[in-house]
Amino acid sequence: MKFFVDTAEISEIAELKDLGLVDGVTTNPSLIMKSGRDILEVTKEICDLVDGPVSAEVVSLTAEDMIAEGRKLAKIADNICVKVPLTWDGLKACKVLTDEGFKVNVTLCFSANQALLAAKAGATFISPFVGRLDDINIDGMDLIAEIRQIYDNFAFETEILVASVRTVNHVTQSAIIGADVVTVPPAVLKKLVEHPLTANGLEGFMKDWAKTGQNIL
Ligand code: E4P
Repeated sequence: MKFFVDTAEISEIAELKDLGLVDGVTTNPSLIMKSGRDILEVTKEICDLVDGPVSAEVVSLTAEDMIAEGRKLAKIADNICVKVPLTWDGLKACKVLTDEGFKVNVTLCFSANQALLAAKAGATFISPFVGRLDDINIDGMDLIAEIRQIYDNFAFETEILVASVRTVNHVTQSAIIGADVVTVPPAVLKKLVEHPLTANGLEGFMKDWAKTGQNIL
C-alpha cells in the first residue's frame, strides 16, 4: 500500500520524505488556504520535492473550466495529478484529461456508484472520504471494502486512494481491505509508530542496560 501525505506544508513533507514515507502528496483548496501559499508556487515546490504523484485540485464547477485549469496545473510538473470533484462535470473533465494522458484523481467520493462512474471515466485514482462518512455515522471503511470488491470484479485499474483519514485505524483497515493508497495527514502518520508496550519495553531495556555499565560505541 502506498502512503501519500495529505498536506501542502513543505516542511512536513520534507520531514516524512527523509523516512521514505512519501509515495505521493494530496492537496485540496482547504489545505492550500491553510498553507497561506500561492497554489502554483507551493505545488511546484512539492513536485520538486517528491517523485510520486502530487494531486492539485481544480476549483471551477464547469467541465470546460475544469479542463482548462487541469491543463494549466499539469504544466507545473510531470508528476501532477489533476484532482476533480465527483460531479457530472468533474467526470466529463476526468474523461477528457485522462484521454489527453494526464493523471486524474476524482475526489469527494461518498458512494460505490460514484466510484464506479469514476472508474468508467478512466480515473487514475478515486478518493473516497472515510472520515467525513464516519462523521455522519456511516462506516467509511465499509465503502472502501465495497469499492475494492467492485473494482476487482471488473478488473478496473483505477487505484483506491483512501482520503479524509483521521485515525490510525483507518490506515490499518485500508491495508487489510487492500486499498492501493492511503493519504494521511502528517499528525496521523506520526502516530503509526506509537505503542505503549514499545515505550515501556524500551524504558525497561534502558534501565537494565545502565546496570551493566557497558557501552557499544
Ligand atoms: C485528500 O485528498 C482529501 O482532500 C482530504 O483527505 C480531505 O480530508 P478532510 O475530510 O479531513 O478534509
